[in-house]
Amino acid sequence: MGGNYLVIGSGWHPTLFHAEVESLTNAQIITHSDRIVEINKIENLEKSATVNQVLASWHKGDIFDYEEKFEQWLDSVNLDNKRSIAVKCTRHGEKTPTVRKVDIATKMGAFLSSRDFKIDLTSPEQVIEVIIEGELIFWGLPHFDSPPRTGWKDRVATARPFFKPVSLDPRQARLMFNLCAAKSLLLDPMCGTGGILVEASLCDIQAIGVDLDPEMVAGTKKNIEWCNGQAEVICGDATRLADLGITGIDSVCFDPPYGRNAWLSDKGVNFFSKVLNSINEVCNVDATLCCMLPASADGSSVIDGEYHVMEELFLKEGWQIEQYWFIPVHSSLGRLLVRAKRLDAE
Ligand SMILES: C[S@@+](CC[C@H](N)C(=O)[O-])C[C@H]1O[C@@H](n2cnc3c(N)ncnc32)[C@H](O)[C@@H]1O
Repeated sequence: MGGNYLVIGSGWHPTLFHAEVESLTNAQIITHSDRIVEINKIENLEKSATVNQVLASWHKGDIFDYEEKFEQWLDSVNLDNKRSIAVKCTRHGEKTPTVRKVDIATKMGAFLSSRDFKIDLTSPEQVIEVIIEGELIFWGLPHFDSPPRTGWKDRVATARPFFKPVSLDPRQARLMFNLCAAKSLLLDPMCGTGGILVEASLCDIQAIGVDLDPEMVAGTKKNIEWCNGQAEVICGDATRLADLGITGIDSVCFDPPYGRNAWLSDKGVNFFSKVLNSINEVCNVDATLCCMLPASADGSSVIDGEYHVMEELFLKEGWQIEQYWFIPVHSSLGRLLVRAKRLDAE
């Protein structure tokens, strides 16, 4: 049995796209390709960082043999020929030499005209969305008017009143708490300029931020005010969170200082251990944590050691790593996005 919806990814990081969809909907996906998955429910996908579109009443076919199927589909879906319509055709990946997407859109347009639909390519009242992937063709009725991330350009780190080069991109901030299926209360124990708190507050997630640097605390407050959000921001030490009166945390998202220099000595690793331990003390039993760790450009080493060393460090401080994803940054740096569960969770 197929799912009711096809979810279309933005094309950035397919495995993170699949993981985010599963985490947000709490449903299992069926994978059609890197950018197309099938699912039975679409709750929360409007908050996604990696989804482009959701198609309902969808059909999957073959680009060389779709015409009859398209006509049958047209008869079966609830489209109103009194309202104008357009076919929007997108291709993922390589071109298929013999099939042009414009020809497919034109052919589908002709079927629609023969059924008295008025084609309007500039401001249609209804849209049929078509995706070509290799020799496969998918079509359906779009659920979103625009991709969920629309508007993020206005919130990029450099557009906020307080910016530092460490500021996290809104897409990555959102992705982190979506992977935690975050709910209130969320904690960012090293909040910097508030990248995670801004996005969390826009998703109505109650959040607390902590930073050791008073300039960051003041700047984060400015950024939260700027987006009309709300979050508590405390000047304090991430290695002593319980001393700040913090308690009852469900989700923790953060990116610790990046510079690989910050991790080169035992001091750096020891510091990170203390942070993990301190977070553990203020969390509820079933809390989830997501953090970005510095990794080598090919992902083979993280925090300047092998993956298993980092995994043991998490375990020692009460966190079981559930999953991790490598994100390339530039030719000499990558990041490992890690999701962990509190160890004594049932
Ligand atoms: C990579 S930045 C975080 C960036 C942030 N996610 C943003 O969007 O701006 C790391 C932050 O950790 C803070 N920090 C370093 N040591 C800390 C400590 N012991 N306790 C709390 N914050 C600390 C730094 O002041 C810095 O703002």
